[in-house]
Amino acid sequence: MATTRTRGKVAVVGVGSVGAATAFSLMSSGVASELVLVDIDEEKAEGERMDLSHGAYFTPPVDISTGGYEDCWDADVVVVTAGTNQRPGESRLDLLERNAGIFEEMIPQITEGLADDSVLLVVTNPVDVLSYVSWEVSDLPEERVIGSGTVLDTSRFRHVLSRECDVDPKNVHGYVVGEHGDSEVMLWSSTNVAGVPYETYAARHCGGVSEEAKEEVEREVREAAYEIIERKGATNYAIALATTEIVEAVLRDENSILTVSTLLGGEYGIDDVYASVPCVVNRDGVRNVVEHDLPAEEREALEDSAGVLAESLADLDY
Ligand code: LAC
Repeated sequence: MATTRTRGKVAVVGVGSVGAATAFSLMSSGVASELVLVDIDEEKAEGERMDLSHGAYFTPPVDISTGGYEDCWDADVVVVTAGTNQRPGESRLDLLERNAGIFEEMIPQITEGLADDSVLLVVTNPVDVLSYVSWEVSDLPEERVIGSGTVLDTSRFRHVLSRECDVDPKNVHGYVVGEHGDSEVMLWSSTNVAGVPYETYAARHCGGVSEEAKEEVEREVREAAYEIIERKGATNYAIALATTEIVEAVLRDENSILTVSTLLGGEYGIDDVYASVPCVVNRDGVRNVVEHDLPAEEREALEDSAGVLAESLADLDY
């Protein structure tokens, strides 16, 4: 029987805890036929390659290798996770200067020979700012430079609500937009369970939802990474799965709607920053932004979040 699995080459740049978990997740999903692991610590990359390869018996076939930046050039998707990560108590934006410097040196080496249809997927934090830096220092079209953005936060939001209502997270529809970080915005006005507005669903089936309960949901989603970093030093598994979801949307040309970070050019009243909003994602990267008619409160919160990102870019002289 013909397989429907799309086969493609994915490069993972940076095989720290996020990169390695992403490689594992990509391998398990079967979405790629070829994985190349790139890290300045070549021994670490080789160790991860060996470990992953020994699992080949249990997964769909995949050719795993290690390489340098030039080995990314013919990849369908290049996933960038390289950089330093948050120390306990640090915000994602605290990482900015450290990682911006790394990106300014690294990204041109990845993109100088990159194939015309490759998609660059930035995961390193602060992801929105580093996606902008990557787009600026490469000459790639904006639709092919995307950030993992709030795909994970959207998943966290749906997870928390699904737990509150005791339904499958797949049946909870709601988006987290803006910065992947402290200023992110939960779009309550459009959140629903199987098409029923969330507040109505909660009132009918799970004892209602108060403003305090909503604030608690927001706190849990917004502070999830801090809570995890306090305990285990980093987050890696859920971001790896979120990244795999984005790679699948690209390689399978899915036209999936995901809250990736994209260059906004007037949508939602925001211009010239990378921020997350619902986007149609396919083999070309971001096909289009999906615009919600936001109530004033959410629109203002999103504009404020974009303002935080614009300030960070200005601090870096972008
Ligand atoms: C998190 C990291 C990926 O939110 O920023 O888990």
